[in-house]
Amino acid sequence: MVGYKSKVAEQIHLPSRTKRERALEEAGYNVFNLDSEDVFIDLLTDSGTGAMSDEQWAALFRGDEAYAGSRSFGELEDAVADVMGFSHVVPAHQGRGAENVLYGSLVEEGDVVPNNTHFDTTRAHIANQGADPVDCPVDDARDPAADGPFKGNTSLERARAVVEEHGPERVPVVVQTITNNSAAGQPVSVENSRAVREFADEIGASFVIDACRFAENAYFVTEREDEFADASVADVAREQLGLADAVVMSGKKDGLANAGGFVATDSDALYESCKQRAILYEGFPTYGGMAGRDIAAMAVGLREAVDEAYVADRVGQVQELADALESVGVPIYTPAGGHAVYLDAGAFLSHLEPEAFPGQALVCELYREGGVRGVELGSFAFPDTDRPELVRLALPRRTYHREHLEHVAETAAAVLERREDVSGLEIEEEPEMAEIRHFTATLEPT
Ligand code: F0G
Repeated sequence: MVGYKSKVAEQIHLPSRTKRERALEEAGYNVFNLDSEDVFIDLLTDSGTGAMSDEQWAALFRGDEAYAGSRSFGELEDAVADVMGFSHVVPAHQGRGAENVLYGSLVEEGDVVPNNTHFDTTRAHIANQGADPVDCPVDDARDPAADGPFKGNTSLERARAVVEEHGPERVPVVVQTITNNSAAGQPVSVENSRAVREFADEIGASFVIDACRFAENAYFVTEREDEFADASVADVAREQLGLADAVVMSGKKDGLANAGGFVATDSDALYESCKQRAILYEGFPTYGGMAGRDIAAMAVGLREAVDEAYVADRVGQVQELADALESVGVPIYTPAGGHAVYLDAGAFLSHLEPEAFPGQALVCELYREGGVRGVELGSFAFPDTDRPELVRLALPRRTYHREHLEHVAETAAAVLERREDVSGLEIEEEPEMAEIRHFTATLEPT
């Protein structure tokens, strides 16, 4: 049994309905344009938005701000070795900085990179190298109603098809993202990671794990994979990550930090090339774009992330939100993910066609109804793909309490009650790059 008591309090408030209506209109029906002060419960992301522990705050004060040879970096190296099992660490300002460093070292123009599902920034960095990022999810991953313990797994069949089509020489790296954020935060089994390891060996490719949510993934493994029923989360994490040649990490998730990221590997050659590229883009390799204090806090956070009680509470809270939503009849993607509950907006607003952006309409209604901010991951965010219309409600770590979850469920229930009256949206203005339009485009009700 574990719990948290507050040592610092931040007041939040629910603006009046009139204020929310106005804020939504001024934001062009895009919640990325809202001021966070106008948001009551912010479930936009779990990235960098969590509460640090008192131990992490203490570490901040002890951070060593030396340009070279920072003691805080030594603490990070120790934490990465203990928790993840890698001897070399190249720090970066956040996950996508680490992606730039790693994929810039591993991937060349004309290459093809299979991944269970590429997160947006991963896809962009691989494309930026002139390579082709290919998603290889299992069949059920995009079915919100299918049951299954590891819907985040890589489809080896799809990955093999990629190699058959392009030839092994064009596939220098196989990536696996755990948990699979772009497939509703679903976990990946150790068995599946082992199979990807073997596959990578067969084709002479490197195996990279995007470890952003590795601890949440390890927790699911202890719950759902028989072989690991008696294993600790920390042991599973090391076992699974140890299968990879390198991990790429955003410390803003399971580093329990507000900033930071890194690449870790045992390969001397990969370390060397990442280090040189990091100097160019991130900073000297003992700080990598982070303040020494942020490195120190992340080193503590990594250790806390594999604490059994912490991670059971964390994933348990996401499940609690899923249960609360289901109990009032809200259709959700099942099973719930590790960091977020994904609402099935296609079923929720079944009278709206994809062209009317049901997901974005639902996001707007959740804000209008209860000041709750989620994010659309459907046809607005991913034009021209056949993804389900999902809305992600991501829980920041150690931040909200039961009454907040109840408010979210009550808000969704109230929208459900008047769902037939919810109208669709159309785009008013959008940027040139369609792939990132959901961050800045403005819309209006139809
Ligand atoms: N990989 C995965 C699987 C992610 O979920 C993210 C970020 C990144 C890489 C990039 O890390 O943000 O530190 O640069 N995901 C956030 C989200 C933004 O809201 O899901 P970053």
